[in-house]
Amino acid sequence: MPCEVLAARAAEELQMSPLIIDTDIGVDDAVALRYALLTQDLIGITCTYGNVAVEQAVKNAKALCRHYGVSQPVFKGASRPLSRRPLPLESHIHGHDGLGDYVTFPENSTAPDAVHYLIESAWHYRGELTLCTIGPLTNLALALNLCPELPSLLKEVIIMGGAFGSNGYGGNMTHFAEFNILNDPEAAELVLASTLNLVLIPLDVTMQVQISGEEIARLKDEFLRGITAFYLDFYLKRGGSAGMAVHDALTVSYLNNPGWYQTVTTPLTVSLGGPTDGQTLRPLGRLNVPHDVFAGRPEHKLCLGVQVAEVKEHLLKTLRLQ
Ligand code: BDR
Ligand code: CA
Repeated sequence: MPCEVLAARAAEELQMSPLIIDTDIGVDDAVALRYALLTQDLIGITCTYGNVAVEQAVKNAKALCRHYGVSQPVFKGASRPLSRRPLPLESHIHGHDGLGDYVTFPENSTAPDAVHYLIESAWHYRGELTLCTIGPLTNLALALNLCPELPSLLKEVIIMGGAFGSNGYGGNMTHFAEFNILNDPEAAELVLASTLNLVLIPLDVTMQVQISGEEIARLKDEFLRGITAFYLDFYLKRGGSAGMAVHDALTVSYLNNPGWYQTVTTPLTVSLGGPTDGQTLRPLGRLNVPHDVFAGRPEHKLCLGVQVAEVKEHLLKTLRLQ
């Protein structure tokens, strides 16, 4: 029986909540999507700019679905940040097409509107729907602006983004800022200031889970082996890495077993300028301060620890299935 059918059955049996993934499909996004197809009830893919232009992200989502023989609907969202210019595309990391320049693209880039789909789905599933965001937070911020009820409609939002300097990992764009947040800090600030039930998975955690060339070579999935070659090369050439980080896949891993992640509950904010532009922040100490910039802000779950062996074992075992 095909894996997708098994996954759909398992989802029914476990009464998994429906999941939407919001993505700027680069290589680790594609790994996250494949992992979600095999383990979660993925009902739709909303695209945004980031690693690639939004048009290319739509093509990548369609190419991935076509390759795996699934028909999840694909939607097109923001093509730029709320109020800034987009950062340069990540072609030196993910290839010009975002998928390691390995895939051919007969697909076109037309797709219905992502932000309306997010809002309609949130109303449709009221309290049941989970969202993973693995690109800049522009689509979610736009949805929040249009639909103030969103925090009470979504079950949970798992965000790959940010860096807090623990485990030796600061930002990957500046010493302070991570790519998804720095692409649209204003959108990220709007999301972190909201009462969404959210879990933030920053570089502190995602950089710890590295997949080696040998582990990739053992995957039976030729598509994943093909698209990861360029990305793996980037990590190995940059030095200091034993393999490639699959940042975005950890949002799906968290859904598969939140027990693998250590979280703290804390208010969060984003620096909106200066040398720390795009840095994600939490209160550093316990002293009572006269000017509390976190006063009145909601608390969120922030992951700062991960059981690397368990996360890797489940991810690799699942991806090896086909
Ligand atoms: C994030 O940036 C992107 O390049 C990756 O896809 C991931 O979402 C890591 O900083
Ligand atoms: Ca991404």
